[in-house]
Amino acid sequence: MLAMVLNLPGDEHTFHAEERAIPVSTSTDSVLKIMAFGLNYAELLTRNGESPDVKFPRVIGIEAVGTVSDTATDSGFHVGQTVMTLMGGLGREFDGSYEEYALIPNHQLYPLSIKDSWAQLATIPESFYTAYGSLKRLRLSTGAHLLIRGGTSNAGIAALLLAKTMGYTVSTTSRNSDKLTTLQKLGADETLLDRGSLETTTSFDGILELVGTSTLRDSLQHLATTGTVVVTGGLGGEWSLPDFSPFEVPGYLTNFQSTNVNARLLSQAVALIKDHRLQLPIAQTFELTDITQAHQAMINSHKIGKIVVIANHD
Ligand SMILES: NC(=O)c1ccc[n+]([C@@H]2O[C@H](COP(=O)([O-])OP(=O)(O)OC[C@H]3O[C@@H](n4cnc5c(N)ncnc54)[C@H](OP(=O)(O)O)[C@@H]3O)[C@@H](O)[C@H]2O)c1
Repeated sequence: MLAMVLNLPGDEHTFHAEERAIPVSTSTDSVLKIMAFGLNYAELLTRNGESPDVKFPRVIGIEAVGTVSDTATDSGFHVGQTVMTLMGGLGREFDGSYEEYALIPNHQLYPLSIKDSWAQLATIPESFYTAYGSLKRLRLSTGAHLLIRGGTSNAGIAALLLAKTMGYTVSTTSRNSDKLTTLQKLGADETLLDRGSLETTTSFDGILELVGTSTLRDSLQHLATTGTVVVTGGLGGEWSLPDFSPFEVPGYLTNFQSTNVNARLLSQAVALIKDHRLQLPIAQTFELTDITQAHQAMINSHKIGKIVVIANHD
């Protein structure tokens, strides 16, 4: 099988195509035939050597969808079953999705009962799980007014799609006025141009902060006294707030991390996607052999949607 390996950190040309033996299942791990996977910004950082815990050589990639190709009889899965995997050390502590087959701990395989193309299924795990987990942290009621800051990110779009099924009024942002129409078409009730500060008089019940601490102080200016901000992203490149005082928070402040997946939350997100036929846009698809071009697209593309890599064809 083909694995795109990083022997050392480096630029997008550092991937090395390696022929490896297909792994064999154990009493604790099953073999996933990877059909497709989405790319994530975090993988750029790992590739660059900015994930201190990742040891090389490593096959990176933090999410994948595919079928179980080899598993112990008591694993709870059957050969041919459609599943997904994400996080929990995938592509960081053990080899991840940039390969045709991967050995995955059984407790990190999750059934995926949605019928769609592999490329479309590949948009689900990390973006929708992150979005749903973040929305649940806000504990909003039906009719609540939500602001998504960093609304054109994949997590932001997934949050918009999910939030509309949950009965929220959604305002969402982009720094780029050209993208606001797309956000409206995806269901946003209001779009706001983000120039580092937002021009709105609304006090939001919930704010999903994906730009991060570089805009958090401004987001807090727009939070209702009973409202909650969940900090999930750091698109602005900053992850801490200098001279922070808790008295700056008019309501509640929390965060979300997808590192350790809560299977119940993930299955609730999948149920909403299935029931409402939610589809995250796909920006571009690549073959596994073109992983260098896929990483270049992640850096250079200004298209809305997920970059997806096809690892196997049926
Ligand atoms: N906590 C967690 O568990 C978790 C899980 C997944 C992702 N994340 C984080 O969530 C964020 C979104 O992830 P993603 O993979 O969905 O992102 P993504 O799809 O790669 O986001 C791309 C969009 O981000 C916006 N953007 C880029 N640089 C920006 C900047 N300096 N300031 C404001 N906006 C900027 C751009 O939108 P515009 O040009 O339209 O403004 C761009 O289209 C990232 O920070 C990621 O690290 C966290």
